[in-house]
Amino acid sequence: MKTKIIRVGLGLTFAIAPIAVAQTKGNIQRGRQVFTQCAVCHSLDGTAKIGPSLRGIYGRKAGALAGYGYSPAMKASGVNWDNATLDAFLQAPRRTVPGNRMPFPGMGNAQDRQDVVAYLATAK
Ligand code: HEC
Repeated sequence: MKTKIIRVGLGLTFAIAPIAVAQTKGNIQRGRQVFTQCAVCHSLDGTAKIGPSLRGIYGRKAGALAGYGYSPAMKASGVNWDNATLDAFLQAPRRTVPGNRMPFPGMGNAQDRQDVVAYLATAK
């Protein structure tokens, strides 16, 4: 009986979710794996490595973490990091924020990008 109630609950969630959160379909667990590509340069614990910490990046303005030496391009980009901007940036960092200094060529796989963005959104 208990199981049945849970199934009904999930069914409702899936029926509504595509409309309400169309952009956040990423798989957080997969995103954690994808993030290993970023982790050489980015922590999620607030400490800077080669790149700024990405803790709290979701919903933050680009180039806004105090104490990190961003490129002038990143600071002046005016970007707000959300699903769409993170997706575009991770696909083609140099085209999205011209002149930025992230030494990462981009991520061609759209599912990987969605998953890693979903994971980043949990790093508050
Ligand atoms: C080889 C090092 C390196 C790798 C790998 C890397 N980054 Fe970066 N990243 C940087 C640097 C350096 C910057 C700062 C760029 C600047 O100031 O122009 C940056 C900036 C960023 C920013 C903007 C931060 C802010 O505070 O506005 C985001 C978002 C970001 N990276 C996400 C990622 C993600 C997600 C990955 C993995 C898919 C990744 N990066 C892989 C080095 C890296």
